[in-house]
Amino acid sequence: MAYKTVITYGTFDMFHIGHLKLLQRAKEYGDRLIVAVSTDEFNAQKGKKTLIPFEQRAEIVANIKCVDSVIEESSWEQKVDDIRNYKVSTFVMGNDWEGTFDHLREFCDVVYLNRTQNISTTDLKKSLTRILTVPKEDIIKAFEVIEVLKNDFQ
Ligand code: CTP
Repeated sequence: MAYKTVITYGTFDMFHIGHLKLLQRAKEYGDRLIVAVSTDEFNAQKGKKTLIPFEQRAEIVANIKCVDSVIEESSWEQKVDDIRNYKVSTFVMGNDWEGTFDHLREFCDVVYLNRTQNISTTDLKKSLTRILTVPKEDIIKAFEVIEVLKNDFQ
């Protein structure tokens, strides 16, 4: 049986369970999984600012068990070259991209996987913003309540 290579692309900021499941399911389509991680410069072009810098995002993804290698994603146009250079059999993306990469079917299989429900970097960032914008007085009040409760239970 021929050796099959799978490729997927993404930012993987604040790596979470949805990212992990996507990578694990992508690997099931072949023997080798290549992950193209978006560089900070490419994200800037897309108007996206990550919390975690490229080097750390790439290192985290490279150390996920099912990932065989990480490359840089630095442009929209590189996909055809990547598919040719790495002899890719299957291109995988989350279904938030459904239809967007159908033109790549000329070069390899294209698969869109269902996203994991109820988790996203965008939501994690929103939660952080909410925490950071809680007024200082409310935080102090919450700590005072915790102290009272602690005393009640002693
Ligand atoms: N993904 C997923 N399930 C999620 C979140 C992301 O399957 N709950 C997938 C995306 O569809 C994509 C890959 O993980 O194929 C990497 O996602 P990424 O490029 O980091 O960006 P986002 O889709 O913006 O991730 P998030 O919604 O978490 O911000």
